[in-house]
Amino acid sequence: MSQRDYIRTEVVVVDAARPEPAIIERAARLLRGGGVVVFPTETVYGLGADVFQPEALERIFAAKGRPYSDPLIAHIADEGALELLATDIPEQARRLASVFWPGPLTLILPRGPRVPYLVTAGLETVAVRMPRHPVSLALIRALGSPIAAPSANRFMHVSPTTAQHALADLAGRVPLILDGGSCEVGVESTVLDLCSETPVILRPGGVSLEALRSVVPDVQPPRYSKVGGTAQAEEKGQWARQAQQSPGQLPTHYAPAVPLLLYDGNVVSMREVMLAESRQRQAQGERVGVLIADEDVAAFQHSGALVHSLGSAANPAQIASSLFNGLRTLEDADVQVILCRNFDDGGMGLAIRDRLLKAAGGRVIEVDNEQIYYP
Ligand code: TXA
Ligand code: MG
Repeated sequence: MSQRDYIRTEVVVVDAARPEPAIIERAARLLRGGGVVVFPTETVYGLGADVFQPEALERIFAAKGRPYSDPLIAHIADEGALELLATDIPEQARRLASVFWPGPLTLILPRGPRVPYLVTAGLETVAVRMPRHPVSLALIRALGSPIAAPSANRFMHVSPTTAQHALADLAGRVPLILDGGSCEVGVESTVLDLCSETPVILRPGGVSLEALRSVVPDVQPPRYSKVGGTAQAEEKGQWARQAQQSPGQLPTHYAPAVPLLLYDGNVVSMREVMLAESRQRQAQGERVGVLIADEDVAAFQHSGALVHSLGSAANPAQIASSLFNGLRTLEDADVQVILCRNFDDGGMGLAIRDRLLKAAGGRVIEVDNEQIYYP
């Protein structure tokens, strides 16, 4: 994008519960004219365009700096719109939709003939979701067409959960950001592939594996493959894992601008190992940030590190909703490294662990395999 393409970005506050019709109509007019608009969903902010206007879709990729190989999600406001986007819709999809839509579940279905290949990255499948945020629903209805929307961040950056996050990434690149406050869920939708032999989660998100299995018992969890580590890392009991390679599921997809070290294992040893690393780095003059839970704060209080708590570890939904804001806050705080603890994998925990793994470039430090020496 050259200087010439600079667009003045306007941020307009919208009532998240009862969006003002005049504001929605203004945004819908932009979309009708082939433009893009940033809008809130219950998961993260999206960068939307009319799903049936290829020139508008191209603007999404240009604004984000996103490669065309990464397919987009089509957002609908009523189940009838599913027929516009997909064919041979399996019975399972109907059952899941009736339980989880509107909500943070994206279904991968056979692509309908009218869906541009720009949306699907050339695939014969299409991703569809019905968001539950009143602003998203009002905007889709006002446009009268499904909205294709990736998260409203620059490619490879953390997804935005506030209008300010979206502005930080896309100022000068989009004409309008609808500011509906903080996103409730805070991590992206669960992407469930219904075109594979067995339904499989491609990206864990706002709807848990347990919840999906209560409707379709054979849903498979996301696959992560261990890729091993360096000889030195193996020696220290560290190992690397890499997210399954599927479109857009690159292991460093959510990379923050500052290196992040992710610690996993017993909470007490996790704190010890993180404190030791923090001490050592500070002794070398590094500014250290720690991303932890309320329960850990006391242990880090006098550590000299910049402490950011995501909420109580006993409340995964709260951790999820504050996770991306936490990453951005430390990134903006001018620290040179972020030390982050991991969380249990039940419920929203699976999505939290997935995003942290990606932020850490696919590397996890397993503390229980480390030698810990108490002074
Ligand atoms: O919560 C969300 O899903 C947010 C809000 C805005 O709705 N959107 C979002 O979009 O996270 P994006 O583009 O950042 O992520 C879409 C994910 C990517 O991982 C992409 O690879 C996957 O969905 N995806 C889209 N179409 C697909 C397809 N046909 N097959 C497999 N994966 C697909
Ligand atoms: Mg994204």
